[in-house]
Amino acid sequence: MISSIYKLGNNTYKISFFQKICKSKIGDVFLYHTNNIGYINNIFVDLEKQRKGYGSKMLNEVEKYLSNSYNINTYRILAWHQRNRKNASLHKFYYKNGYKKEFDSKNEIETIYDDEYNKFDMIQLIKKIHI
Ligand SMILES: CC(C)(COP(=O)(O)OP(=O)(O)OC[C@H]1O[C@@H](n2cnc3c(N)ncnc32)[C@H](O)[C@@H]1OP(=O)(O)O)[C@@H](O)C(=O)NCCC(=O)NCCS
Repeated sequence: MISSIYKLGNNTYKISFFQKICKSKIGDVFLYHTNNIGYINNIFVDLEKQRKGYGSKMLNEVEKYLSNSYNINTYRILAWHQRNRKNASLHKFYYKNGYKKEFDSKNEIETIYDDEYNKFDMIQLIKKIHI
């Protein structure tokens, strides 16, 4: 896997990942950092490359980049899934990668409405590593 980093704004980046030999696109991670915290804004793996371990590897690379370049050891993700699509399994992806719910209260889920047909649940997840 190889990667390219694009600066999108102040402390805001997109890291794109490609296969080493054929250079085909694997996916993108959008991130931001401030006050020693790294925020993973979005992570996408190409549809036909999902469930092959790439998403986990990309997340790991992004954490290493933030840790090595900016001395960051706390990462936050706002994970979303569409309500009623039983897509809560997405959170399994984050739990498997060491993220935990940030708030252990009933108010942990914020619901936002994208339009009048779709409702999205958002959950704050956090991971701290010891350097
Ligand atoms: C979420 C996403 C980045 C995961 O990337 P990936 O390469 O498929 O993930 P991995 O192969 O590293 O998966 C690791 C584990 O996460 C869990 N997981 C990942 N995607 C899952 C899915 N769609 N359903 C159920 N479990 C899933 C599984 O437990 C998986 O382990 P397993 O395959 O051994 O069971 C990818 O599915 C994606 O781009 N989805 C669409 C965009 C999106 O929802 N982004 C997140 C916004 S918050």
